[in-house]
Amino acid sequence: MDGVAPYVTADGRQIGGVLMDMRGITLRFGGVEAIKNISFDIREGEIRAIIGPNGAGKSSMLNVISGFYHPQDGEVWFRGEKRPPMKPYQVARLGIARTFQNIALFEGMSVLDNIMTGRLTHMKTGLLAQAIWKGKAEAEEVANREVVEKIIDFLEIQAIRKTPVGRLPYGLKKRVELARALAAEPKLLLLDEPMAGMNVEEKEDMSRFILDVNDEFGTTIALIEHDMGVVMDLSDRVVVMDYGRKIGDGTPDEVRNNQEVIDAYLGVAHE
Ligand SMILES: Nc1ncnc2c1ncn2[C@@H]1O[C@H](COP(=O)(O)OP(=O)(O)O)[C@@H](O)[C@H]1O
Ligand SMILES: [Mg+2]
Repeated sequence: MDGVAPYVTADGRQIGGVLMDMRGITLRFGGVEAIKNISFDIREGEIRAIIGPNGAGKSSMLNVISGFYHPQDGEVWFRGEKRPPMKPYQVARLGIARTFQNIALFEGMSVLDNIMTGRLTHMKTGLLAQAIWKGKAEAEEVANREVVEKIIDFLEIQAIRKTPVGRLPYGLKKRVELARALAAEPKLLLLDEPMAGMNVEEKEDMSRFILDVNDEFGTTIALIEHDMGVVMDLSDRVVVMDYGRKIGDGTPDEVRNNQEVIDAYLGVAHE
């Protein structure tokens, strides 16, 4: 796709062609330019990090990818095709799932039921059809349950499957949110600060799960993260944003040695 040569990473993973191509994206809120003419791509199979200070426009960029925000300028290309303006549910059907900076789960519902909501984009049988063709709906339910059970095993949350999400500690809620996103079996997974507010042990767990998802399901991942150690460990390539502009783009080593990035972001302490 796009004539970009696939390559193999230092740890032996295959990176393919361009999956998502953001071209000249500009996004404004009234007078505020949250994203200023940014272009970058996400390649098949890679873990792509987006970093930058608060207010840089990172979440806005994920919101453009997932169809929550619509840019005033620029083009979004997915799998070699220009994507028309889409609603979030339509983007989800393309195989793009996400988690949110602030956890968005149903606190009163069980872990299992929350994860099942991640299957909604795959449910072909509507409510009326379910009432009429009960058998078909039941078959679909069984298939959905199988996918969900596989993810519950994978993320090691069997013990809390019946627990209402509201009762869980923060780190586990984040894991359930990841599970819900994975239930959609996405091609591209967007994670907005998946480790924010976690302690060291929780961060290590989450890092391992993100690597395992990439490795075992082949899921392409774009994530926003502040912990530079995590970014350096996890990501194949990093985009650096500052005040809506892109100030760096490359391998972790490249951006770490980029003077503009050091001045704007890496030189100062972060949480
Ligand atoms: N829905 C919105 N309405 C108005 N301004 C917004 C909205 N979302 C983001 N912004 C503004 O866009 C800029 C970038 O925000 P954001 O994308 O959340 O940054 P980051 O995730 O890098 O911290 C900020 O100035 C923020 O106030
Ligand atoms: Mg943000």
